[in-house]
Amino acid sequence: MDALTVLKKDHDKVRTLLSELEETTERAIKTRQEGLARLKSDLAIHEQIEERIFYPKLKEHAESRAIVLEAYEEHDVVNTILREIEQTPVEDETWAAKFKVMKENLEHHIEEEEGEMFDTTRELFEPSALEELGEQMMALKERLQTRSPAA
Ligand SMILES: [Fe+2]
Ligand SMILES: [Fe+2]
Repeated sequence: MDALTVLKKDHDKVRTLLSELEETTERAIKTRQEGLARLKSDLAIHEQIEERIFYPKLKEHAESRAIVLEAYEEHDVVNTILREIEQTPVEDETWAAKFKVMKENLEHHIEEEEGEMFDTTRELFEPSALEELGEQMMALKERLQTRSPAA
């Protein structure tokens, strides 16, 4: 599977989870707790395959350096909000507000990746190189999934 397809599949999964969680109310304690744990673990693995394989490769090219640097920062922002949500009781009225801010940030990040970043990637890499990169990413993903109990 080529690198961009690997990432797109993860993104679709995250988007679905975000929408499902947004519709929950403070009464759905278990759904929120479980959903958040799943999001956290999926996201951590996704960020690892990007930060350890995809971004460094892309950053070697001057054309994509700025967008990659921005993406690292966006991961940081999302992770910070995510940690804050984790420390907020799911029945607290601010939970949904924090969640919404995190969702918007994450959706924006995903859109930027699938737009400008993926477009640049297609220009810079041959299909065979993307295929190879995708294989490496899937292998790392598998290794991380077996290590993470929540995955
Ligand atoms: Fe990302
Ligand atoms: Fe991504």
